[in-house]
Amino acid sequence: MKLSLLLLQILFFGLDLVSFAYGEYVFIYSGFAHNNITLDGAAMVTANGLLDITNGSIRLNGHAFYPTPLPFRNFSSGLVQSFSTSFVFGVQSTYPSQGFTFFIAPSKNFSSALPVQFLGLLNSENNGDMKNQIFAVEFDSIKNIEFQDINNNHVGFDINSLISVDSYPAGFYDDKDGTFSNLTITSSEAMQVWVDYNGDIAQISVTMAPMGMAKPLKPLGSATRNLSSVLSGMAYVGFSSAAGRDNTRHYILGWSFGLNSAAPSIDITSLPKMPHFGPKARSKILEIILPIATAVSILSVGTIILLLVRRHLRYLEVREDWEVEFGPHRFSFRDLFHATEGFKDKNLLGIGGFGRVYRGVLPASKLDIAVKRVSHDSKQGMKEFVAEVVSIGRLQHRNIVQLLGYCRRKGELFLVYDYMPKGSLDKYLYGQEDKPILTWAQRFLIIKGIASGLVYLHEEWEKVVIHRDIKASNVLLDAEMNGRLGDFGLARLYDRGVDAQTTRVVGTIGYMAPELASSSKATPLTDVFSFGIFVLEVTCGKRPIKEDVNGNQIMLVDWVLEHWQKGSLTDTVDTKLQGNYDVDEASMALKLGLLCSHPFADARPKMQQVMQYLEGEVPIPEDMPPHLSFEMLTLMQNEGFDSYVMSFPSSVTNHSSAASHGSLMSALSGGR
Ligand SMILES: Nc1ncnc2c1ncn2[C@@H]1O[C@H](COP(=O)(O)OP(=O)(O)O)[C@@H](O)[C@H]1O
Ligand SMILES: *[C@@H]1O[C@H](CO)[C@@H](O)[C@H](O)[C@H]1NC(C)=O
Ligand SMILES: *[C@@H]1O[C@H](CO)[C@@H](O)[C@H](O)[C@H]1NC(C)=O
Ligand SMILES: *[C@@H]1O[C@H](CO)[C@@H](O)[C@H](O)[C@H]1NC(C)=O
Ligand SMILES: *[C@@H]1O[C@H](CO)[C@@H](O)[C@H](O)[C@H]1NC(C)=O
Ligand SMILES: *[C@@H]1O[C@H](CO)[C@@H](O)[C@H](O)[C@H]1NC(C)=O
Ligand SMILES: *[C@@H]1O[C@H](CO)[C@@H](O)[C@H](O)[C@H]1NC(C)=O
Repeated sequence: MKLSLLLLQILFFGLDLVSFAYGEYVFIYSGFAHNNITLDGAAMVTANGLLDITNGSIRLNGHAFYPTPLPFRNFSSGLVQSFSTSFVFGVQSTYPSQGFTFFIAPSKNFSSALPVQFLGLLNSENNGDMKNQIFAVEFDSIKNIEFQDINNNHVGFDINSLISVDSYPAGFYDDKDGTFSNLTITSSEAMQVWVDYNGDIAQISVTMAPMGMAKPLKPLGSATRNLSSVLSGMAYVGFSSAAGRDNTRHYILGWSFGLNSAAPSIDITSLPKMPHFGPKARSKILEIILPIATAVSILSVGTIILLLVRRHLRYLEVREDWEVEFGPHRFSFRDLFHATEGFKDKNLLGIGGFGRVYRGVLPASKLDIAVKRVSHDSKQGMKEFVAEVVSIGRLQHRNIVQLLGYCRRKGELFLVYDYMPKGSLDKYLYGQEDKPILTWAQRFLIIKGIASGLVYLHEEWEKVVIHRDIKASNVLLDAEMNGRLGDFGLARLYDRGVDAQTTRVVGTIGYMAPELASSSKATPLTDVFSFGIFVLEVTCGKRPIKEDVNGNQIMLVDWVLEHWQKGSLTDTVDTKLQGNYDVDEASMALKLGLLCSHPFADARPKMQQVMQYLEGEVPIPEDMPPHLSFEMLTLMQNEGFDSYVMSFPSSVTNHSSAASHGSLMSALSGGR
């Protein structure tokens, strides 16, 4: 593409093609190699195509012309027509040296012109003579008092004289804020120039910019100068210079011109390059480029190291020898990081008791996951915990949230679960986040599902697994609204003393069996207790503990118990159901909830039995063991019966030991 464009340019413009159309004359030189350009004096074209007006010689004039004269005047009106030209130049000079001009002149004969300050254009005799018919734009780098120069770096309009009619310090105006920047003509840097004459209003303007910058909107200088009273009918266009000192080069890299037309724009990428410049250039390499290059390379090496270190730290994991056997269950932190888009807040699913939970998609398998990020500081018990995580990962049941694996970093543990699209049950029970209220059928299905999951954990798997934290917020819903138990093992992690310094309550207040308060020994029956509270919660649509208007804590169990004893059990069913529920199922669920949350562990059914009640295979016993309200239990604890309550579960059937505790005891154990 680029090549064909270049070829096209060479074909149409590069070969000095002039287009004639109703008095339009247009040409462009992208470099001057093999091009038809007339050279005079010291001017030459270098091997790579630069036009060198003064080939480094001393006190010699150099000129370069477009070969043919152009008809600057309109044949019918006789007035000088609009024209525009643009060129890219670069002046390399060891010493302060003369500049150069772009000129329009009636002849190619400059044999009488003088070098140096006369710029190869005029001499002391004809300077200022109207007969010269010369217009030039000078780029002057010497302040010449004789010619009233403004400074040693200016651009001027010259009409028949080297005393400029208008002159401007070289530079350009910024398009945005209009600030002026100097450009040094002899800086060895390539610069672009635009000269435009508007014949209709007799206005001439000049614009400069560093090469590569677009033409600035505000010209460097603009003046009303009627060239109709200056130029001859046919005139040559070209460049002139005369170096005063050795080794000065005035290079033109490219040039375009249009009479009655805009000058074609120059493709700077196709221009020949200027050679590296003399000792100054070399010292530039040493003094400027070298330190910059060194700084740049040090900086880039530093940046790379920093990036590598950051990357290393970012994905740094803790991996120990004993973990080898758990390899397949170990996720790389990098995968989890990418899956959750760097644990972005927008992927946060929720904040639980143990840490934040993020949603993610595994990069390779596109599997939807939930990553729980748990902070922990202790190594103690970690091996056992990971072993347990891995064994929990082997648990597979439709009512259990699949644990896929884990990852460890310093101070952090990541647990990876299947993603549950509908979120946690509590949000539906209490209508949070605009979640719809669950129907009775959905609730009953969820209760049965969780029971089925617990049967699997307690009785069907190879080991007895105790969940320890059954509650509505740990029940997640899959796409079909099946309840699934989540959040295994964490309670165990803290229980094992991994987080021993913070005496964390294992389980959740309101769901914890009373015996845990003293013995803290979790059993399948402590799970059954939590399950009972959970069933009541789902059926009543109320949280396990509520505060009444006086700030007293009311236990949901006590409230349901009260209604049961009054014979108004179904009054406790969630009013949000508006009476749309199966009365038999609901009252069975309520009784089951009470039975399971019995303060005495031995009075609670096993999950297998619970399942049978729920499936309707076995009717729930009408003569339930008398329940003891929590109010009562608390009262007893306050009265110093702590040890008694603690030992009670194991001694509930032991009447002899019960008797020794007096009348309260018999009240408690009554009915057994
Ligand atoms: N596997 C999962 N899929 C979808 N959302 C989940 C998953 N696990 C947890 N969550 C969301 O993250 C929240 C916090 O989870 P969790 O830490 O288990 O809570 P808590 O510690 O209170 O039991 C939950 O309420 C739930 O909305
Ligand atoms: C250069 O251009 C002039 C004028 O158009 C023409 O006379 C001359 O033959 C050309 N020379 C070459 C080498 O093309
Ligand atoms: C410069 O041009 C002059 C005149 O054409 C010539 O004598 C001289 O050898 C040239 N110098 C170089 C360095 O090409
Ligand atoms: C020349 O001038 C005449 C009369 O002013 C005008 O009509 C014509 O367009 C001009 N030609 C060009 C090429 O500008
Ligand atoms: C160039 O002009 C000078 C006078 O200024 C004259 O002597 C000389 O013959 C002219 N050369 C040509 C080639 O016309
Ligand atoms: C531009 O150059 C002139 C003359 O050398 C100087 O006075 C002026 O301060 C320079 N301006 C800037 C912005 O460098
Ligand atoms: C320029 O000068 C000529 C006479 O030389 C005159 O006819 C013309 O109107 C002038 N143009 C402008 C724009 O002033």
